[in-house]
Amino acid sequence: MDDVTGPDLKMPKLGLGTWPMKGAECRTAVESAIALGYRHIDTAQMYGNEEDVGAAIVTSGLRNQIHITTKVWHTNLAPADLTRSFEESLTKLKTDHVDLYLIHWPSATMERDLPAALATMQKFKQDGRARAIGVSNFPVALMKQAIEDIGAPIACNQVEFNVLHGQTAVLTYAKNKGVAVTAYAPLGKGRVLDNEILATLAKKHGATPSQIALAWLLRQDNVAAIPKAKSLENQRTNWQAQSLKLDETDIATLNALPKTHRNVVAGDWIKWDPPG
Ligand SMILES: NC(=O)c1ccc[n+]([C@@H]2O[C@H](COP(=O)([O-])OP(=O)(O)OC[C@H]3O[C@@H](n4cnc5c(N)ncnc54)[C@H](OP(=O)(O)O)[C@@H]3O)[C@@H](O)[C@H]2O)c1
Repeated sequence: MDDVTGPDLKMPKLGLGTWPMKGAECRTAVESAIALGYRHIDTAQMYGNEEDVGAAIVTSGLRNQIHITTKVWHTNLAPADLTRSFEESLTKLKTDHVDLYLIHWPSATMERDLPAALATMQKFKQDGRARAIGVSNFPVALMKQAIEDIGAPIACNQVEFNVLHGQTAVLTYAKNKGVAVTAYAPLGKGRVLDNEILATLAKKHGATPSQIALAWLLRQDNVAAIPKAKSLENQRTNWQAQSLKLDETDIATLNALPKTHRNVVAGDWIKWDPPG
């Protein structure tokens, strides 16, 4: 499967989400995923597991083949806090660079905080310690401020996106600007697994509902997906979704499912785009 690419980005379409794993559970999960072939790992300052992710990557001996995304929490966006956070993340991840560094959530005063935060992140990019920079949970209005008003080289927006929660506004804007979209909660935190339509399509393809949900995301241009899976069995099932081919009827059926079921609700100050 092709990578998601951009001027600063070469990110495998399927990655491993790591929240809320920590400690030995996280290390074991990251090690087994890498052994299966995963080359994209998603972590964050807020997850408290960067040290475990870093240890697993060191054990693999494959750092130069692995795309690491990490994120700064929204309370650490003032330049000095952001610089300290970034350097702590590099130390914990035991690496001299990350492949993608994101603002995890908009702050309550994001419009005001954004210019200085992005100027600081651009320095990390210029000195090579962040290969690409981007945002997460940004509605279109904030993406526009970052890209059009500030002129920052935003490579990616990571948002909740799955077959039951759409992101048409973000996807349309991102496509227009050459920005990648990473789908978090691509299995709706497990909710897609109980959906009858997905179960029917899974039966048709001799697959699982999780594979149907992931195949629907992965076929979309410039979209990556980062399912979290603790067990080797679930990691392998998700990995195999890359070779599942949906036909036009399947895609139309999945496109027609209601897309308004948000799972992750935080930051009541965020003016989300209408779901769908
Ligand atoms: N940027 C953000 O604000 C943000 C927010 C939320 C999440 N994220 C990132 O996105 C990642 C994924 O999102 P998520 O963890 O919230 O939700 P998710 O990936 O949609 O769902 C994870 C759940 O699905 C289960 N699962 C995975 N593969 C399965 C399979 N093949 N069959 C049955 N069950 C399966 C997992 O169980 P097991 O672990 O037991 O396998 C877990 O309970 C996170 O880990 C994190 O890295 C980012």
